[in-house]
Amino acid sequence: MRSANITVRGATRSDLPGIEHHYGPLDNLGDSFCDVAKIQEIQFDWLVIGEIAGEYAGFLYWHLGEKPFFAPHIENFAHIREVQVLEKFQGQGVGRELTVYALDKLKALGTKDVFLATSETNNPARHLYESLGFTQLRKQILYALRINRPP
Ligand SMILES: CC(C)(COP(=O)(O)OP(=O)(O)OC[C@H]1O[C@@H](n2cnc3c(N)ncnc32)[C@H](O)[C@@H]1OP(=O)(O)O)[C@@H](O)C(=O)NCCC(=O)NCCS
Repeated sequence: MRSANITVRGATRSDLPGIEHHYGPLDNLGDSFCDVAKIQEIQFDWLVIGEIAGEYAGFLYWHLGEKPFFAPHIENFAHIREVQVLEKFQGQGVGRELTVYALDKLKALGTKDVFLATSETNNPARHLYESLGFTQLRKQILYALRINRPP
Protein backbone atom coordinates (compact mmCIF):
# COMPACT_ATOMS: atom_id res chain seq x y z
CA MET A 1 0.00 0.00 0.00
CA ARG A 2 1.22 3.46 -0.90
CA SER A 3 2.87 5.33 1.97
CA ALA A 4 1.89 8.90 2.79
CA ASN A 5 5.27 9.55 4.36
CA ILE A 6 7.57 9.45 1.33
CA THR A 7 10.19 12.15 0.94
CA VAL A 8 12.46 12.40 -2.07
CA ARG A 9 15.49 14.67 -2.03
CA GLY A 10 18.87 15.27 -3.57
CA ALA A 11 21.77 13.34 -2.01
CA THR A 12 24.97 14.37 -0.28
CA ARG A 13 28.12 12.38 0.40
CA SER A 14 26.74 11.51 3.84
CA ASP A 15 24.08 9.35 2.12
CA LEU A 16 26.67 6.99 0.62
CA PRO A 17 27.09 4.72 3.66
CA GLY A 18 23.33 4.13 3.75
CA ILE A 19 23.31 3.28 0.06
CA GLU A 20 26.35 1.04 0.38
CA HIS A 21 24.70 -0.79 3.23
CA HIS A 22 21.68 -1.27 1.00
CA TYR A 23 23.27 -2.24 -2.29
CA GLY A 24 25.50 -4.97 -0.96
CA PRO A 25 22.71 -7.54 -1.06
CA LEU A 26 20.91 -5.82 -3.90
CA ASP A 27 23.90 -5.66 -6.23
CA ASN A 28 22.74 -8.61 -8.23
CA LEU A 29 25.80 -9.91 -10.05
CA GLY A 30 23.60 -12.06 -12.25
CA ASP A 31 21.82 -9.01 -13.65
CA SER A 32 23.84 -7.19 -16.24
CA PHE A 33 21.37 -4.32 -16.20
CA CYS A 34 22.13 -3.29 -12.64
CA ASP A 35 25.18 -1.15 -12.12
CA VAL A 36 25.90 0.35 -8.75
CA ALA A 37 29.68 0.18 -8.88
CA LYS A 38 29.99 3.62 -10.44
CA ILE A 39 27.96 5.40 -7.80
CA GLN A 40 31.09 6.55 -5.99
CA GLU A 41 32.18 8.44 -9.09
CA ILE A 42 29.02 10.35 -9.84
CA GLN A 43 27.96 13.88 -9.09
CA PHE A 44 25.66 14.20 -6.12
CA ASP A 45 23.13 16.20 -8.09
CA TRP A 46 22.61 13.05 -10.16
CA LEU A 47 21.73 11.01 -7.10
CA VAL A 48 18.32 10.99 -5.41
CA ILE A 49 17.34 9.54 -2.04
CA GLY A 50 13.90 8.27 -1.03
CA GLU A 51 12.86 8.07 2.59
CA ILE A 52 9.79 6.83 4.42
CA ALA A 53 9.06 8.64 7.68
CA GLY A 54 12.66 9.88 7.68
CA GLU A 55 14.17 6.41 7.21
CA TYR A 56 16.33 5.63 4.16
CA ALA A 57 14.21 3.64 1.69
CA GLY A 58 15.99 3.72 -1.66
CA PHE A 59 17.92 5.63 -4.28
CA LEU A 60 18.06 6.48 -7.96
CA TYR A 61 20.93 7.85 -9.98
CA TRP A 62 21.45 9.00 -13.51
CA HIS A 63 24.23 10.33 -15.64
CA LEU A 64 24.17 12.81 -18.47
CA GLY A 65 25.86 11.94 -21.72
CA GLU A 66 26.16 12.87 -25.37
CA LYS A 67 25.44 10.87 -28.51
CA PRO A 68 24.52 7.45 -27.13
CA PHE A 69 26.03 4.68 -29.28
CA PHE A 70 22.55 3.22 -29.92
CA ALA A 71 21.15 6.58 -31.06
CA PRO A 72 24.07 8.80 -32.19
CA HIS A 73 21.73 11.43 -33.65
CA ILE A 74 20.76 12.40 -30.07
CA GLU A 75 23.04 15.15 -28.80
CA ASN A 76 22.34 15.12 -25.04
CA PHE A 77 20.66 12.44 -23.05
CA ALA A 78 20.20 11.13 -19.53
CA HIS A 79 20.59 7.52 -18.53
CA ILE A 80 18.82 6.46 -15.35
CA ARG A 81 21.33 3.86 -14.30
CA GLU A 82 19.74 2.54 -11.19
CA VAL A 83 16.53 2.60 -9.18
CA GLN A 84 16.70 0.56 -6.00
CA VAL A 85 14.21 0.37 -3.15
CA LEU A 86 14.87 -1.63 0.00
CA GLU A 87 12.80 -4.79 -0.05
CA LYS A 88 10.89 -3.85 3.09
CA PHE A 89 9.78 -0.58 1.47
CA GLN A 90 8.92 -1.91 -1.98
CA GLY A 91 5.40 -1.52 -3.29
CA GLN A 92 4.75 1.65 -1.27
CA GLY A 93 5.38 4.20 -4.00
CA VAL A 94 9.04 5.03 -3.39
CA GLY A 95 10.23 3.81 -6.81
CA ARG A 96 7.58 5.91 -8.51
CA GLU A 97 8.40 9.01 -6.46
CA LEU A 98 12.13 8.63 -7.14
CA THR A 99 11.56 8.28 -10.87
CA VAL A 100 9.07 11.15 -11.12
CA TYR A 101 11.45 13.38 -9.15
CA ALA A 102 14.34 12.49 -11.45
CA LEU A 103 12.28 13.12 -14.58
CA ASP A 104 11.18 16.52 -13.24
CA LYS A 105 14.81 17.46 -12.51
CA LEU A 106 15.92 16.30 -15.95
CA LYS A 107 13.11 18.22 -17.61
CA ALA A 108 14.16 21.36 -15.73
CA LEU A 109 17.73 20.82 -16.96
CA GLY A 110 16.43 20.78 -20.53
CA THR A 111 17.08 17.09 -21.11
CA LYS A 112 14.92 15.75 -23.92
CA ASP A 113 15.79 12.07 -24.03
CA VAL A 114 15.97 9.68 -21.12
CA PHE A 115 17.04 6.04 -21.36
CA LEU A 116 17.08 3.20 -18.88
CA ALA A 117 17.32 -0.56 -19.04
CA THR A 118 15.85 -3.39 -17.06
CA SER A 119 15.45 -7.08 -17.61
CA GLU A 120 12.48 -8.43 -19.49
CA THR A 121 11.32 -10.37 -16.43
CA ASN A 122 11.41 -7.44 -13.98
CA ASN A 123 7.67 -6.85 -13.86
CA PRO A 124 7.60 -4.23 -11.08
CA ALA A 125 10.24 -2.15 -12.86
CA ARG A 126 8.63 -2.58 -16.27
CA HIS A 127 5.23 -1.66 -14.92
CA LEU A 128 6.66 1.44 -13.27
CA TYR A 129 8.60 2.69 -16.30
CA GLU A 130 5.87 1.92 -18.82
CA SER A 131 3.26 3.66 -16.65
CA LEU A 132 5.44 6.77 -16.81
CA GLY A 133 5.53 6.67 -20.59
CA PHE A 134 8.78 4.81 -21.33
CA THR A 135 8.52 2.60 -24.40
CA GLN A 136 10.75 -0.25 -25.49
CA LEU A 137 13.61 0.82 -27.75
CA ARG A 138 15.35 -2.48 -28.31
CA LYS A 139 16.15 -5.82 -26.69
CA GLN A 140 19.53 -6.78 -25.39
CA ILE A 141 20.80 -10.35 -25.41
CA LEU A 142 22.85 -11.54 -22.47
CA TYR A 143 25.21 -14.26 -23.80
CA ALA A 144 27.21 -16.69 -21.71
CA LEU A 145 29.95 -19.13 -22.68
CA ARG A 146 31.91 -21.19 -20.20
CA ILE A 147 35.36 -21.72 -21.70
CA ASN A 148 37.22 -23.21 -18.76
CA ARG A 149 35.37 -26.35 -17.69
CA PRO A 150 36.86 -28.73 -15.15
CA PRO A 151 38.01 -31.99 -16.86
C1 LIG B 1 11.54 -1.87 -9.26
C2 LIG B 1 11.49 -1.04 -7.99
C3 LIG B 1 12.51 0.08 -8.09
C4 LIG B 1 10.09 -0.41 -7.87
O1 LIG B 1 10.06 0.38 -6.69
P1 LIG B 1 8.82 0.26 -5.68
O2 LIG B 1 8.98 1.32 -4.67
O3 LIG B 1 8.70 -1.13 -5.21
O4 LIG B 1 7.63 0.58 -6.69
P2 LIG B 1 6.32 1.46 -6.41
O5 LIG B 1 5.74 1.07 -5.09
O6 LIG B 1 6.64 2.89 -6.64
O7 LIG B 1 5.36 0.89 -7.52
C5 LIG B 1 5.53 1.25 -8.86
C6 LIG B 1 4.51 0.54 -9.70
O8 LIG B 1 4.92 -0.83 -9.84
C7 LIG B 1 3.82 -1.68 -9.50
N1 LIG B 1 4.34 -2.92 -8.96
C8 LIG B 1 4.94 -3.10 -7.77
N2 LIG B 1 5.26 -4.40 -7.61
C9 LIG B 1 4.83 -5.02 -8.74
C10 LIG B 1 4.87 -6.36 -9.21
N3 LIG B 1 5.40 -7.34 -8.45
N4 LIG B 1 4.37 -6.64 -10.45
C11 LIG B 1 3.85 -5.66 -11.23
N5 LIG B 1 3.78 -4.36 -10.83
C12 LIG B 1 4.26 -4.06 -9.62
C13 LIG B 1 3.03 -0.91 -8.49
O9 LIG B 1 1.70 -1.38 -8.45
C14 LIG B 1 3.14 0.50 -9.02
O10 LIG B 1 2.21 0.75 -10.02
P3 LIG B 1 0.89 1.61 -9.74
O11 LIG B 1 1.36 2.91 -9.17
O12 LIG B 1 0.30 1.72 -11.09
O13 LIG B 1 0.09 0.79 -8.76
C15 LIG B 1 11.73 -1.90 -6.72
O14 LIG B 1 10.81 -2.96 -6.70
C16 LIG B 1 13.15 -2.43 -6.58
O15 LIG B 1 14.00 -1.79 -5.99
N6 LIG B 1 13.40 -3.64 -7.13
C17 LIG B 1 14.73 -4.25 -7.03
C18 LIG B 1 15.76 -3.52 -7.87
C19 LIG B 1 15.33 -3.36 -9.29
O16 LIG B 1 14.87 -4.29 -9.92
N7 LIG B 1 15.51 -2.13 -9.81
C20 LIG B 1 15.10 -1.73 -11.14
C21 LIG B 1 15.92 -2.14 -12.30
S1 LIG B 1 17.67 -2.29 -12.14
